[in-house]
Amino acid sequence: MLQIAVVGASGRMGGAFMEFVENVEDVAALAVSAQLLGADDFSQLETALESDGIDVVVDFSTPEASLKLAVWAAKNAKPMVIGTTGFTAEQLDKLAETLQAVAVLLSPNMSTMMNISWRMVSNAAKVLPQDTIDVEIVERHHRNKRNAPSSTALQMARIVAEKRGWSLSESLRRNSRWGILGERPRKEIAISSIRGGTLNSEHTIIFAGSGESLEVTHRSQTLEPFAKGALRASRWIVKQPAGVYDLLDMLGLPEVLF
Ligand SMILES: NC(=O)c1ccc[n+]([C@@H]2O[C@H](COP(=O)([O-])OP(=O)(O)OC[C@H]3O[C@@H](n4cnc5c(N)ncnc54)[C@H](OP(=O)(O)O)[C@@H]3O)[C@@H](O)[C@H]2O)c1
Repeated sequence: MLQIAVVGASGRMGGAFMEFVENVEDVAALAVSAQLLGADDFSQLETALESDGIDVVVDFSTPEASLKLAVWAAKNAKPMVIGTTGFTAEQLDKLAETLQAVAVLLSPNMSTMMNISWRMVSNAAKVLPQDTIDVEIVERHHRNKRNAPSSTALQMARIVAEKRGWSLSESLRRNSRWGILGERPRKEIAISSIRGGTLNSEHTIIFAGSGESLEVTHRSQTLEPFAKGALRASRWIVKQPAGVYDLLDMLGLPEVLF
């Protein structure tokens, strides 16, 4: 039996994960409140540790709760699967420093298809000339999403910037366009974030050239692909030595493939 503590289990994603594993025979999931952790209350985790034990912690909460959880996981040598997004660069550094003695899989997107699309984006960004091809990213989410742009869109931008040898902070364009702007600069990766209602999450990256364009779109209709990815990640991370991994490590997709 794989014992999983699920932090943020009352949230949208944590709830979907709980629902997904409910019918998986060899998995037992325990719901842990993110808000309690945020308030330094670790009693749910401590009780679970003393009764059935915990093999791995799955986290879909908030950066603040994740950082508190990381301290607990490091102290108790528990592997982690972190799906929480919206960390600042400083928070990510702190997370890696705290978790250096345990195995942690960190991915802003637990969908296998999305991770494969990142490899496609990487390939296109590497091959398509940067002096003639403009890059735009459009992401859509439900009205309650806290952070914008999504960490997944930022990841796409990061890949393009890296392949083009650009600084991410200098090339990112944060706002929708408005007014008389003149010609679009070439060295620009623009992200447009759309929020509303119960919109399903969608990410499109557009490589726009002269007379042709290429678009890579990932759409998710339900949260099941993310729950499925997080469960697969949980089974995988408990067998890994200490280190920080992402979903592509788990999928075993070598860089040369694309
Ligand atoms: N990696 C992926 O594939 C993936 C997919 C989907 C979402 N996500 C990310 O997972 C995270 C959770 O997403 P979600 O849509 O499930 O969010 P959500 O519905 O807002 O729930 C997340 C958790 O936030 C806690 N919370 C609510 N209000 C709070 C407050 N005022 N202070 C502290 N904590 C509070 C809740 O804790 P309690 O448990 O105590 O009620 C809840 O469990 C986000 O970062 C999201 O971007 C990642």
